[in-house]
Amino acid sequence: MVIEQNKNLFCVKNKAEKRFIEIINENVFRFFYCKNDTSLFEINDTFSPCSSLLKKDKILINDYEISFSPSLKIIVKKNDETIFEEYEEDYFAFKEDKKQKTNINIRLEDDSYVYGLGDKAKFLNHKGYEYISYNTDDPTPHNEQYKSLYKSINYLLVNHHNDKYFAIFYPSTFKTYFNIGKDKSDLLNISSYKGEHDFFLILGKDPSSITSSYASIVGLPLMSSLKMLGNQQSRWSYMNEDEVKEIASKYKEYQIPLDFIHLDIDYMDHFKDFTFNKTTFPSLKDLSTHLAKQGVGLVTILDAGVKEEKGYEVYDYLVNNNLACTLDNEVYVNEVWPGRSIFPNFMNENTKDYFKDCTKKWIKENGIRGMWCDMNEPASFKGPLPDNVEAKVNDKIIYHEEFHNIYGESMVKGVCEAFKEENMRPYVITRAAFATTTKYAMCWNGDNQSLWSHLQASLPQVCSMGISSFPLDGVDIGGFSCDTTEELLIRFIEANMFSPFLRNHSAAGTIHQEPWCFSSKCLEVYRKMVNLRYKFIPYMYDLAYKAHKEGTPILRPLFFNYPFDKNVKEINDEVMLGDNVLLAPILTQGARSRSIYLPQGNWINYFTKEEYQGEKEYLLHLEIDEVGLFIKKGSIIPTYQDLMHLEKEEIDTLIFDARYGNGKYVNYEDDGESLSYLKGQYNLYEVIVNDEDIIVNKIKNDYDSPYKVVKVITNTITKEFNF
Ligand code: GLC
Repeated sequence: MVIEQNKNLFCVKNKAEKRFIEIINENVFRFFYCKNDTSLFEINDTFSPCSSLLKKDKILINDYEISFSPSLKIIVKKNDETIFEEYEEDYFAFKEDKKQKTNINIRLEDDSYVYGLGDKAKFLNHKGYEYISYNTDDPTPHNEQYKSLYKSINYLLVNHHNDKYFAIFYPSTFKTYFNIGKDKSDLLNISSYKGEHDFFLILGKDPSSITSSYASIVGLPLMSSLKMLGNQQSRWSYMNEDEVKEIASKYKEYQIPLDFIHLDIDYMDHFKDFTFNKTTFPSLKDLSTHLAKQGVGLVTILDAGVKEEKGYEVYDYLVNNNLACTLDNEVYVNEVWPGRSIFPNFMNENTKDYFKDCTKKWIKENGIRGMWCDMNEPASFKGPLPDNVEAKVNDKIIYHEEFHNIYGESMVKGVCEAFKEENMRPYVITRAAFATTTKYAMCWNGDNQSLWSHLQASLPQVCSMGISSFPLDGVDIGGFSCDTTEELLIRFIEANMFSPFLRNHSAAGTIHQEPWCFSSKCLEVYRKMVNLRYKFIPYMYDLAYKAHKEGTPILRPLFFNYPFDKNVKEINDEVMLGDNVLLAPILTQGARSRSIYLPQGNWINYFTKEEYQGEKEYLLHLEIDEVGLFIKKGSIIPTYQDLMHLEKEEIDTLIFDARYGNGKYVNYEDDGESLSYLKGQYNLYEVIVNDEDIIVNKIKNDYDSPYKVVKVITNTITKEFNF
């Protein structure tokens, strides 16, 4: 075996083949036999160089040592302990797919846990299952046996021997299979029939550092606006403007905070993008102005498929400028909501720019504050798009088999840019996504159902998205299809009260599930939970900023914060908001109690103020209007009080809740909606509490804050500060 070095690229050869090792930075290595230089995956390229050394037949980087077996399989060690190892045997898990070409085999251990993979239901740990990355819109109930969902996020975070973590990212946009210890418990097999044998290994001491390193490859998540963290209401569909106005006034009447109402496809004129039905919605501008006065933003849905209709501006533009996908040199037609539909060739920059311009015009003319991008897997009713559907880019042809998984992302790119060009933080939601989509949009997890099993799946799913560096994610509250029940709706809002994207949405033909549709008790609980969320908004916003800077999740599984605690590896029914807040909801019909494990440290019950010792299990009694909510001792939580919506200029008080013991905290503040924060226009408040000694320092002061007062409350005193 011979190893040659050329700067950060190593080539290892035996008699039969050669393999490359690219040192991206001190924690990220790219291993490939062959790399697709025209790949649709765009690597983020802001890397700090690091030194690596060739010593005999080993590569040394930092504390890591990379060595090779005679067949060029890779072993990575740190302090003589193996962290990562490829499997010697060439195993093909998906034998039925004759086309499969690339085969990556990684050794798992008896005690391995495999996390990540974006939206794949239903548990955090994916070991024992197989999955396919192929963006799919299939309404049958998503459960743990479901192989493909809407997103393809080929990121796997592996833990073994309790304290060792590594992650794999497979950058190909082609259909990819993952067999995760299913055929052989000690083997993780990744295979693809077109993708290259090329993957990233990401190392680090814990999930947090690994997730951040991963985010440095795929790009950092979008920065949320403040309002995006607010409560949202949707329905397929509110059929006319009066219905929409009534929703807003009911929210006001029942005193439940609300920040956005969504218009689903029926607001359109015959389901045509960038049009609206002038009979049922005479003026979107008037409607959005009416809602804006009540602090509510209007979001409109935009579908990927474009109605085939001569004379319809969008169709004509795409066809006349050769910007639609084709098959055998004809514009390719399938069926979506408008009937016969064509598929914009978003691979082409001109299509992206056209959608950007349409979005700019649309949001300006109609006062729209958010775009909801749907059916962008792309979904199609007359069978899937054939593999050989073409997207032409200059002289090059990209086939559907390659662009399928990144089609959703290519759709949202232009929409995202439109907001940026208007100096607005992009409010873009997408259903389909690839790993890099986190830069352009937040997500929701598609068509769940009003089932208890889907409620149970919601937390691990949002957490899996979070640890895959998609911090801005959520599910349809109440469940999308089927009729929800009062109890299920209550438990949905309780469990998801900290989900970054919080929207109640339901399908056509199901019973209405707005908060007031059941008993007054239901309404009361819904209000209580949404109010509670609004209290925690400044804390969530801090986490959103951190997510944007470091790629870390807002809502996390316990193992993310306590990676070396053996008891938390498979906790699917408790979640943490950042480092300091733990939520344990009821997820079973009829249940009024549940067990809860509290990790290391001491914990204060938010409601009773009782103190609990960590690393122990407890039985919690929880009535229908109760959740388990614990704050880590020594935390300081920035909070707001009694808000009906999140418009920055109307918020005049910031309260640091320091009733959980002495501690220190830094809170971030900006205007919540523009891109000025990128120019440094933000504030940082440092709070230090030591018994009666309370200090708040404004350690950065570059945004003109509307806060009239900043308060710190402890168990004994309240102190006010004016800046
Ligand atoms: C899709 C979306 C759903 C939407 C429906 C109609 O099924 O996932 O949220 O309501 O289409 O537009």
